[in-house]
Amino acid sequence: MIEISPTDRVFILTGAGISAESGLPTFRGEGGLWRNVRVEEVASPVAWQRDPQFVWEFYSMRRRAASQARPNPGHTALAALERALGNRLFLCTQNVDNLHEQASSHDAVHMHGELFKSRCERCTLPPFDDTNTYEPPASLPRCECGARVRPHICWFGEVPFHVDRIYRALDECTLFVAIGTSGMVEPAASFATHARSRGRTFYVGPEEPANASAFTECFLGKSGEVLPELFRF
Ligand code: OAD
Repeated sequence: MIEISPTDRVFILTGAGISAESGLPTFRGEGGLWRNVRVEEVASPVAWQRDPQFVWEFYSMRRRAASQARPNPGHTALAALERALGNRLFLCTQNVDNLHEQASSHDAVHMHGELFKSRCERCTLPPFDDTNTYEPPASLPRCECGARVRPHICWFGEVPFHVDRIYRALDECTLFVAIGTSGMVEPAASFATHARSRGRTFYVGPEEPANASAFTECFLGKSGEVLPELFRF
């Protein structure tokens, strides 16, 4: 049980594990996406320059899978926590699916982008909603400026989104909870260490993450089972 006091400010970081019980594969575990596909062939600027069609096939496949997925009790518990804490909760996700939004979380900060958005690779038009799939024989999407449209995803080697806002929230939080993330990808893997200098840090997932030493306590179990009973305020 995690006690939340009336003055606590809570930072939640979610990873692929929270969506596992909704049927979406994680990246590194058994059956994980990176077990079948080489990251550098689909999720890097080099891959995009070399074979944009292949990159779009990968994200089209993920759009199809994510469009079938529904939130699980883990997502629902975090939406309830937002209703209880209001702006004392900051929800940051590495996930590009929209399951937090489907569960009625209103301000999930997507540091690795959003699967159902696309943007121009060149001009400054903002990212736009896009649920289309782009696979042969369909041609690749183009912006009105003539450049290619790419998935609105932070690829390896790119800077995550919203970092200023995220580090401000980390500086302010007194309680940090990471859920379903292996602790292997920076900068998110270092958030717990950052937060620990000023408060309590917890992890929720079926196994200890790589950065387990940064946590005050790990609650081992599936997030859909642990989260609904975890918080007391
Ligand atoms: P990983 O695949 O690295 O880790 C998923 C974690 O979820 C593992 O530690 C599992 O133990 C845990 N897990 C599995 N089932 C779970 C369940 N039911 N409940 C809770 N936890 C469960 O995924 P991430 O850490 O999210 O980046 O990966 C971080 C980033 O690496 C991703 O955002 C992605 C990837 O490359 C980009 O694509 C930019």
